This record gives sequence, structure tokens and C-alpha cells, in this order.
Amino acid sequence: MAIFASGSGSNAENLVKYFSKSKVAKVTLIISNNIDAYVLMRAKKLRIPSLVISNTDLKQHPNLILEKLKEFSIDYIVLAGFLRKIPEAMINAFPKQIINIHPALLPKFGGKGMYGAKVHKAVKQAGETESGISIHLVNQAYDEGKIIFRAKTALTPADTPKTIEQKVRALEMKHFPNEVENFITRQNN
Ligand code: GRF
Repeated sequence: MAIFASGSGSNAENLVKYFSKSKVAKVTLIISNNIDAYVLMRAKKLRIPSLVISNTDLKQHPNLILEKLKEFSIDYIVLAGFLRKIPEAMINAFPKQIINIHPALLPKFGGKGMYGAKVHKAVKQAGETESGISIHLVNQAYDEGKIIFRAKTALTPADTPKTIEQKVRALEMKHFPNEVENFITRQNN
């Protein structure tokens, strides 16, 4: 699988480590649209080939990226903090094979512009009593593909956006790799 990430890449690293021991899949490529993203340092340390793509190529020349994915024999794409929309040509080339993680309980708190700290602030502002993670398939609309897994964490009035983020991150670290593996296993049996 290839991981697409725009930022720090803690989920990417967690996925790489988990799948290094998996019989179901391996992470063989990390792609970022941000040349300064820390995920690229992690890729180097983890000895996973990485590639920087421009936002223009992503939008206007998805075929260039598709060629690369073919070169690396990629079957699945996992988005782990990738902040750009996946173009239709890529969705069509990878039907039901692109998986994203969203740091809230979709369908709430999703959509364009809803990422990172903004999500946790919105959850706090809405006075939610729970938050969590949603792992879902990627289609043309932001955060609207079929949900394949959700996990919840209880919130108290004392929680801040920061503590909500910490609780959600703990769920990401615990479940994301395992649920990606389960999904791939289900799909191939
Ligand atoms: C995570 O919270 C993930 O759910 C979201 O973006 C964040 C990425 O964090 N989609 P990291 O780059 O994996 O540290």
C-alpha cells in the first residue's frame, strides 16, 4: 500500500511499523504534497521510499501519480492526514481501495476545511459528550465515503480541544493499522 500524508505522519509511522509484521500487506511508498512535512523524515528513517507530489499535479495530472503507483505495484492507498482532495481519476483507478481516517465521529464534524485542531475545537464548541475516529472509504465528496470502522471516546465538560485530540490520537494509534488490515483481509476473501 501507499500512504499519503501532508503533515507529521505519526499515523504513517504507526502503519509502517504494524504492517512490517503483517502477512496481509506492506507499506511500500509514502507520498506527500508537502516538501517540508515531517512524514518525509520519518519515511527516510523507516527506509520507505517517498515521493513529493505538487498540488497542481495532483489536481491536473493525476495520471503522473497513477503511473508512479503502478510502478510501485500499489493496490491500496491509505490517507493519513492528507489534506488535499483525491481526484476522480484516482478514485476510479482505485475503487474501494482508498481509505481515510477522520478524527471525529462522521458524519458529524466532517467536510471541507474540517481537519486537525479545527475538528476538535468544533467538537468542544458543540458540547459533545463523545468523539472518536472514523475510518472510511474515499469517494468524490470530502469525508462521505462508506464508513468501515468507528471507535468512540467519552468526553467530559473539562475536556479541551487539546485533550480531545489526545484521546482521539490514542484511538488512532490503537485501531487504524489493525482496521486497515481487517478491511483488506475482508475484501480479499
Ligand atoms: C490525524 O489526526 C488524522 O486522523 C487526521 O490527520 C491527523 C494526522 O496526524 N486525518 P499525523 O500526521 O498522523 O500525526
